[in-house]
Amino acid sequence: MSPVAGPGYEVVPGGPADAFRDHVVRAYQDAPGDWQKVLGEQLHFQWGVFGHPDSPRPVSLDEAGLRHLRCQLAVAGAFGLRHPAPRRILDVGCGWGATLRHLAADFPDCPRLDGINISAEQLAYCAGQSDGTDRIRLYLCDAADIAGLPDGAQPYDLVLARGAITHFPPQVYESAAEALARRMRPGGLLVVSETLYSEEVLAAEQQLPPSEDHLALGHRKSLKYVTEVLRDNGFRVLDERPLPSPEDAARWVLELKSNIDAYFPHGASPPLEAIRAMAAELATALLQRRASVHSIVAERWEA
Ligand SMILES: C[S@@+](CC[C@H](N)C(=O)[O-])C[C@H]1O[C@@H](n2cnc3c(N)ncnc32)[C@H](O)[C@@H]1O
Repeated sequence: MSPVAGPGYEVVPGGPADAFRDHVVRAYQDAPGDWQKVLGEQLHFQWGVFGHPDSPRPVSLDEAGLRHLRCQLAVAGAFGLRHPAPRRILDVGCGWGATLRHLAADFPDCPRLDGINISAEQLAYCAGQSDGTDRIRLYLCDAADIAGLPDGAQPYDLVLARGAITHFPPQVYESAAEALARRMRPGGLLVVSETLYSEEVLAAEQQLPPSEDHLALGHRKSLKYVTEVLRDNGFRVLDERPLPSPEDAARWVLELKSNIDAYFPHGASPPLEAIRAMAAELATALLQRRASVHSIVAERWEA
């Protein structure tokens, strides 16, 4: 089936939605203006690199978010990210579009940058930020349905998945990895940023009932699981490392909490309240190495 036209984005029909999808959609339905108070104007929502002591001056969340993305692109650069220059890029779980906008500027000769998301609210915001060219294409598409993205004859040279796998139920992650392997050029690079948990934490954790999981984080994963699925689907892991540092990651989540306290002292929406409630515990887990933020660069294996 071919995609159906939508307001600033196309809709990629997929298989039956898993029950968790609505949950994720609800986590991102608040006004972008509310999220900007918490995350910063640019709406990067995948941790930040503050980089002290090199940068003793205050570093904003916007700057820290962009630095994190740039650090990951620099790591991928060592594995030939720019040679040959990417002709088609995909951002899986593109949020409000901050990464796509940066990549469009960073790869000015790349004619095609696709972003997929299951949040229509976020895609509508992305569409409103268009630079007037048709280089950035937006799709309301579940990661499980990547096989249905149009123009299958043109493979992806570079795929980013930053903060999205966190939300995926295991079957969605496994389907996405399989579809990505089929849609990427052999030798193409996959750049992942994920919050991961030690096997001990995962074994001991009590799952929140979905009705209380307002950030849709119920499907926690370990580094072992995330990388094994990639390997099983034809990817070679070229680099994996904690990034940002535990100290920067802890600082980032505490800054979000501090913004929520400052802007919403009398209560905020359920997802923002969930960040306020978990920030201190998550910062502690990061500093104690029970959780980590990992950067993974993997290559679509060339047989
Ligand atoms: C933590 S945000 C990260 C956003 C963005 N990548 C960034 O770095 O700012 C996670 C994003 O993944 C999207 N997402 C979650 N589950 C998805 C799925 N199954 N398919 C596509 N997108 C999904 C969410 O809607 C959200 O936009």
